[in-house]
Amino acid sequence: MPENNKEKINMVTCTAPVNIAVIKYWGKRNEELILPINSSLSVTLHQDQLKTTTTIATSRSFQEDRIWLNGKEEDITHPRLQSCLREIRRLARKRRNDGEIGLDSASLSHKVHICSVNNFPTAAGLASSAAGFACLVYTLARVFGVEGELSGIARQGSGSACRSMYGGFVQWIMGKKDDGKDSLAQQVATETHWPELRILVLVASAERKPIGSTSGMQTSVQTSCLLQHRAESIVTGRMADMIEAVRKRDFTAFAELTMKDSNQFHATCLDTYPPIFYLSSVSQQVISLVHRYNRHYEETRVAYTFDAGPNAVIFILQQHVPEFVQLVQHFFPSDTNRGQFIKGLPVNSVSLSEDLKQAIGLEPMSKGISYIISTKVGPGPCVVEDSTLYLLGSDGFPKKTA
Ligand code: DP6
Repeated sequence: MPENNKEKINMVTCTAPVNIAVIKYWGKRNEELILPINSSLSVTLHQDQLKTTTTIATSRSFQEDRIWLNGKEEDITHPRLQSCLREIRRLARKRRNDGEIGLDSASLSHKVHICSVNNFPTAAGLASSAAGFACLVYTLARVFGVEGELSGIARQGSGSACRSMYGGFVQWIMGKKDDGKDSLAQQVATETHWPELRILVLVASAERKPIGSTSGMQTSVQTSCLLQHRAESIVTGRMADMIEAVRKRDFTAFAELTMKDSNQFHATCLDTYPPIFYLSSVSQQVISLVHRYNRHYEETRVAYTFDAGPNAVIFILQQHVPEFVQLVQHFFPSDTNRGQFIKGLPVNSVSLSEDLKQAIGLEPMSKGISYIISTKVGPGPCVVEDSTLYLLGSDGFPKKTA
């Protein structure tokens, strides 16, 4: 073993959550700094079900910056990754120059080894880049002794990542400045604010790979006048209404705004030229199911939202979860046993009345949904103290998992 491998290694592990937007971000006014054309608002999902874990080590012995994602070494020169590394190192240097406690100049020049994994399948089509970049920035900041506002750096990894820097309900204020200094995430309510709120991720059976959000939104900005109208005249009012609905825990208002904003986002995708389709026939069946269910009870009990893919994210109050999940199982029959079909927070099984099934009146779609992740609102990034959970070994390289 070369002598320099005995050098001291500084290592930190953190986790960060996935978030789902209820007022959507779609479109940038500055591609490089990732500045949006409108503000957005999201709900942070609980990390017990969905999270990224990242270990970062620095050592004088490391020859170069390296990164391993979900078991595979990836290209560290990726521009957005470089932006996050550069910004954290810049802040660390500034802290040291300002005479604050931080790293000595030697440690500042050390190379990093980064290792990151998700506790959910990438194939689930969930926005893993938001949790991934939030975790990267949060962990890097700990390693380099940087404190304070970090959402502006996470934003430069992936726009939606800035919202994963906080738990609960989070707004990303678009800001006005050209340098992006005021384009930051801010918590609207904590993760304990609305304990009855449940979230179900209905993972649609994989079809083709949809167009990525980065390039999709570029085409939308260039071609959709509906998107311009949305940014100029719709979102500001909706943000205020959504914040009020969250603060008051007004489920009806929250649910209706969530569905309308998801629908408007997908309408701007259709208004993009050539058009982009993220919703599949399964998504459409989920939309019908939700509206028919709400109509049957003459009450808005369930809401859906869809990002740049066919998976539905459902918001529902705890007391209605068992019946709605049973309906999903009925209208999307699957060979998978119940334990495999419903992951995450346990859901009691109930029997459905014939009345309700008839009122919904949809044709069952076999195997349309692979599984459901049952979760709730959760906290922001956390530090992992238990070193047995670190992803890098004491040599600073990924641990061999059996
Ligand atoms: C539909 O944050 O993935 O999920 O900033 O280019 O990395 P980049 O895009 P990204 O876009 C997310 C779009 C969305 C809506 C949302 O999360 O607000």
